[in-house]
Amino acid sequence: MTARHSESSLRVVLGVTGGIAAYKAVQIARSLVTKGHQVTVIPTASALKFVGRPTWEAISRSDVPVDLFDGVAEVTHVALGQQADLVIVAPATANFLAHYAHGTAEDLLGTTLLATTAPVVLAPAMHTEMWENPATTENLAALVARGIHVIGPEAGPLTGTDSGPGRMSEPEDIVDYALSVVGPRPLAGQKVLISAGGTREPIDPVRFIGNRSTGAMGVALAQAAASLGAEVTLVHGALEVTPPRGVECVFAPTAADMHTEMTARFPDSSIAIMAAAVADWSVEPAAEKLTKDEAGSWPEMAQTPDIAAELGASKTAEQRLVVFAAETTADDEELLARARAKMQSKSADVVVANRVGEQVGFGQTDTAVWIVQRSGAPVLSTGSKLTVAGHLFDVLLSP
Ligand SMILES: Cc1cc2nc3c(=O)[nH]c(=O)nc-3n(C[C@H](O)[C@H](O)[C@H](O)COP(=O)(O)O)c2cc1C
Repeated sequence: MTARHSESSLRVVLGVTGGIAAYKAVQIARSLVTKGHQVTVIPTASALKFVGRPTWEAISRSDVPVDLFDGVAEVTHVALGQQADLVIVAPATANFLAHYAHGTAEDLLGTTLLATTAPVVLAPAMHTEMWENPATTENLAALVARGIHVIGPEAGPLTGTDSGPGRMSEPEDIVDYALSVVGPRPLAGQKVLISAGGTREPIDPVRFIGNRSTGAMGVALAQAAASLGAEVTLVHGALEVTPPRGVECVFAPTAADMHTEMTARFPDSSIAIMAAAVADWSVEPAAEKLTKDEAGSWPEMAQTPDIAAELGASKTAEQRLVVFAAETTADDEELLARARAKMQSKSADVVVANRVGEQVGFGQTDTAVWIVQRSGAPVLSTGSKLTVAGHLFDVLLSP
């Protein structure tokens, strides 16, 4: 995502807590320093077991206070927080979230956070069981309610052999998101409506017609819109990623549900983005599980409502409609021709065209899309889904 912060140097406190992902926070410190910001790293005692003080000092090019009673003459325990323009904690452990939610001040990171009025961005990282524990959920909810910003975690490989939600977001995404939080908020006061994930059309009580969408693109769009100050509603079907905090989430498992929720909310929204993979067909589901022998008598398929076309038809001059077009064609010209045809048929302002397939698009961290507008050349956007989401908002916000 293109960060919208001012070009001047920021005083950034980077809190690092004791998780394996601490090694990735080195890249966060390096990136911030490379961008010209002054970085003070505050590692917790546990974080120092993963990455040592010399690494933090070398990378941040700054002294690294590690003890609450370091720098007493400079009142370091509160001064770093008071002077900071931005505080990032990455990785944020379950233990840290519990401490921060309760405002404890037994180490330098705790006192710094209590003393700061700067925006705070947390990037949690932990095993799925710890992440999904109600204690962690409640601690995080309390922090979000106080205006703390959170990015991730994402689903993916964790330490050891397991995989699932709990993996820290990518370092560059954390940097971009954190810098966008302190930047201008061009979408402040605007409502952005985003659909995400795949719908599931029930066939009978146990089967459904579904698709490979994970919802990651829609979730990245919601994160980007929220960081630009928008009031975001995410209408989602099946998601394999954690929706961002601070965003209103509405579960719409079927195409019909998504139609209801999107059309009801569209009149109040200034931007609507259809990123969900909505089933084109549904069936009248059987009340009982269909047997193998009944296969021939399975219900007829019927087309689902065309949500994007309906939003396009009711759109006012002030509203913008963005429609995603997932295509399997290998030919870029064909992809762009279909995107333009979709722009016409849905009365969309922007079409985001991407190639999908078993190994492409769905579930991948990085993506490549064409952003097609009514006038001007299409823009190829590549990178993480958060980066691509940022490019799309850059296009929507450019005069
Ligand atoms: C090898 C190892 C890896 C750990 N990884 C994590 C982690 O990723 N996330 C987490 O919340 N805790 C993790 N922990 C547990 C924390 O290190 C522990 O809760 C510690 O008290 C955190 O201290 P801090 O929050 O003050 O940094 C890990 C522990 C060990 C031994």
